[in-house]
Amino acid sequence: MEDKIRKASDLLLKSRFTTAFTGAGISVESGIPPFRGNGGIWARYDPKSLEYAWFIDHPVESWSIIKTIFYDYFGNARPNKAHLVLAEMEKRALLGRIITQNIDNLHQEAGSKEVFEFHGNSKRIVCLGCHRYYIVGSVSLDHVPPTCRECGGLLKPDFVFFGEGIPQSALSASYEAASLSDVFIIIGTTGEVMPANQIPFMAKSAGCSIIEINTEPSNYTGSITDIFIQGKAGEIMEKLGVELFSTPLDNDEDRIN
Ligand code: APR
Repeated sequence: MEDKIRKASDLLLKSRFTTAFTGAGISVESGIPPFRGNGGIWARYDPKSLEYAWFIDHPVESWSIIKTIFYDYFGNARPNKAHLVLAEMEKRALLGRIITQNIDNLHQEAGSKEVFEFHGNSKRIVCLGCHRYYIVGSVSLDHVPPTCRECGGLLKPDFVFFGEGIPQSALSASYEAASLSDVFIIIGTTGEVMPANQIPFMAKSAGCSIIEINTEPSNYTGSITDIFIQGKAGEIMEKLGVELFSTPLDNDEDRIN
């Protein structure tokens, strides 16, 4: 593994623009279970509860499940080493942006600034009537479904339900990253969910080198991944951080991260 971490570090130190593409696996060491695989959320809850049409027709049932999964259970998760190393990489101009599929806000809480949320963010709640936004914590979830203080409309978590469109800003930032980046570092994703899962393939087609960190092989591993480092994101990113941050930069004048 050490050899792969050194190779990954060399790639990242030489890269003019690096993008991190993250999935649920990066937050598992923060106590948030993945959606698929052992102990996955979809093994315990029906994904139907996150289908937009079902939410509109069954707001009480859907909100009850959403509250249990995303607010009661994960609400207090904290960033782990993987999130923190990515934030430090950004500070040192070793990372240009993060495209995340996650809705847990942990990249922002770790200090990352250039974060594009492909599936939105569970820390925001939006009114479907007047489009007013609320921060979680400012809305009581003791009685569900919560309603808007302004217009009485139904409130919905501001993350993308199945059947909803992807936020345009996240799409544009992802397409730009795929064309601009020298290196993609893919952390903790099966690569199963469209259209997010296409971004790394687009990056590869544009000539990007792919580093992947995952406990298991994914849809990328046997196809586009150049360096696959098998293991836990927090542990591997900590080692990668030591390698990266102890090596003096020699080409920062042409770095655009
Ligand atoms: N470190 C690194 N990778 C891990 C770890 C860990 N500690 N634990 C699990 N993984 C890997 C798993 O091997 C798997 O490849 O993380 C991945 C988790 O896969 P999913 O649960 O499918 O998560 P993700 O790929 O992000 O799902 C994409 O599906 O349900 C939708 O909107 C949801 O954003 C989500 C999307």
